Formats: sequence, structure tokens, C-alpha cells
Amino acid sequence: MSGDLADNAAHGEYELVRQLLEQLGVPVYVLPGNHDHRDKLRRHFDLPGAIGTPVQYAADLGPLRLVALDSTRPGEDRGELDADRLSWLDAELAGAPDRPTLLALHHPPVSTGIAAWDEIGLPVADRRALGDVLERHRQVRRVVAGHVHRTMTAELAGRAVLAVPSTYVQTRLSFNSDEIETAAEPPGFAVHALVAGELASHVQPVT
Ligand SMILES: [Fe+2]
Repeated sequence: MSGDLADNAAHGEYELVRQLLEQLGVPVYVLPGNHDHRDKLRRHFDLPGAIGTPVQYAADLGPLRLVALDSTRPGEDRGELDADRLSWLDAELAGAPDRPTLLALHHPPVSTGIAAWDEIGLPVADRRALGDVLERHRQVRRVVAGHVHRTMTAELAGRAVLAVPSTYVQTRLSFNSDEIETAAEPPGFAVHALVAGELASHVQPVT
């Protein structure tokens, strides 16, 4: 799950999410969004890392490798990718250069074109620095994110960036509004399939 599992980072909210996900009977991998709290997330989802540090890790999903990167800036809605996190990513990707990899983070590392979202997105310099890391690691096939509560795609370092709908409420496409507005659109999620070495990503609405 690409972040913002809870609205208020309350223990009860995380417990409910954990119980609901458990019913799926599949391994669950989560990462923090701006509404989450790193250590509460750690407590409920058995995540690695010392208290207060970014929640990031790699997991092998059969032939596909998932790398989760923490793009949050605690206490703020906008994101950040500092040098420590990017050097961790660089080393992590260097450790498995031949494994097709899906990189997941909460804030889409691209400009959305929607001012209200870009204001609380990742700074341009941080996006470019992530792009520089990706240039060195061709095995990263796709970058997936959340945060914007709608489907959008753009490109970073030649890789498709896909932001997926929220499993909660969606937001309206508006290039002129200064505010984020909700939209009466269905929730959804993405399904990624690695077939014969090619990664296909589908967005599935829930109606
Ligand atoms: Fe968010």
C-alpha cells in the first residue's frame, strides 16, 4: 500500500487496516504517507528500521523485486527525499541489478500539473536527485505512488511513474483551483503483472 493508510495515525485506525488487509490472505507491504506516523506504522505492520527513521525496505515478490522508499517529511504534507534516503536506495538497487524492480513511494516524483497537489509534492530538486539514481539502475521498471487520490502517469528518468487511486476518496481533476476538491469517483487500486519479463500495470476501480 502506497501510504496514508490512516487519516490521523491513530492506533485504532491502523489496527482496523491491518484486520481488513489480513482478510485478503496475502503478504502485505506498506509504506508511510503524510498522514501516517512512521513508528505507529512500524508497530502495527512489523516494519524494519530504528525508531524515527524512514520506513524503507526491499522485498522479493517472486521474480519481481519491490523497493519501498519513504518520501515523507514528518509533520508536513509535502514530501522530501534527502541524501541519506537516496544513497540507501542507490545501494539497495546496486545489490540486485538484474531483478526487475518496482519502486514505490507515497509522493509521486513528478509534477502533476495541479497546483494544489504540486505544493505538497516533492521538491523539484529531490525529484531530479531521484531521477539521477534511477539513471544508474535500469532494472527499475516502474515507479508507483499514491498521495494524489487519482490515476495519473508521467515519466522520470525514462521510467513510467504511475499514481494510483485512493482506496478511500478521490480528488477532482482541476488545473485552476487552489484547493484540493473531492470527486464522486470510485476508489481503486493497481495490479502489476510481470509476464515474460515485461511489467504491465492495471488500475482497477472498485464499484
Ligand atoms: Fe498523502
